[in-house]
Amino acid sequence: MNRNERDMLASFVSQRMELGENEWYLPKEQLMSSLADEKRPKPVSSGPVSGSSAGTVRQAETCASSSFDEEHIASKKSLDDLNAAVCGCKRCALGSTRTNFVFGAGNPDAGIMFIGEAPGADEDAQGVPFVGRAGKLLTRMIEAMKLTRDEVYIGNILKCRPPNNRDPKPEEIEMCEPILLKQIEIIKPAVICALGRISGQTLLRTKATLGSLRGSIHDYHGVKFIVTYHPAALLRNPNWKKPAWEDLKLVRREFDGMEL
Ligand code: URA
Repeated sequence: MNRNERDMLASFVSQRMELGENEWYLPKEQLMSSLADEKRPKPVSSGPVSGSSAGTVRQAETCASSSFDEEHIASKKSLDDLNAAVCGCKRCALGSTRTNFVFGAGNPDAGIMFIGEAPGADEDAQGVPFVGRAGKLLTRMIEAMKLTRDEVYIGNILKCRPPNNRDPKPEEIEMCEPILLKQIEIIKPAVICALGRISGQTLLRTKATLGSLRGSIHDYHGVKFIVTYHPAALLRNPNWKKPAWEDLKLVRREFDGMEL
């Protein structure tokens, strides 16, 4: 095994351990073919990656818009246009406490969309979703699914950080969800993966427990919708990584039939 293969093996093994797999047996041929799979780029959808304006712009530099109304965003056809129309939003009080509006990031043609709850401190500072510790774990989870962050789309229900990371309030969700719905309409993902209880319960309008929401394919505005643990919860409870991995395998299977 050369150095490159050793590095790839180390990254493959650490991804799997991160997801709770601590024991496995692989015949050498299978191991080498897994490594070769890791090496191959995996296009999952067509279209350019929109990391530039759809998530990484700083509102102070580019955002001239103020609060939007739903009629105004109905006509938007691209994520960039939508972002430009909503990034100055002050529909709820969080518009006055945020540092950055966190629109979302990734491929505008993504087949898989991950939806968290709301930006935290790191996301508020950078204007990009899931970039803190939980975000780094989410990146590794996506990579374990043989995808990259640039191939999927990552967003949140709320686009502005609630102070002290408190749970989103119903009125904030009501004001912000139209943006998410429009993002879904533009992206048209095949599968949505809700990250955490709050995301799953809020979007499905249910009080059902995370345990009862997991493992089924729900429907959110006509899109397959799968609920899993929030990566921050996985950092606190590593025992949940293994069941979370089962959820991610289900997401990938429902997306394109790939068995991880
Ligand atoms: N948690 C979330 O739900 N969203 C983020 O963007 C970061 C942490």
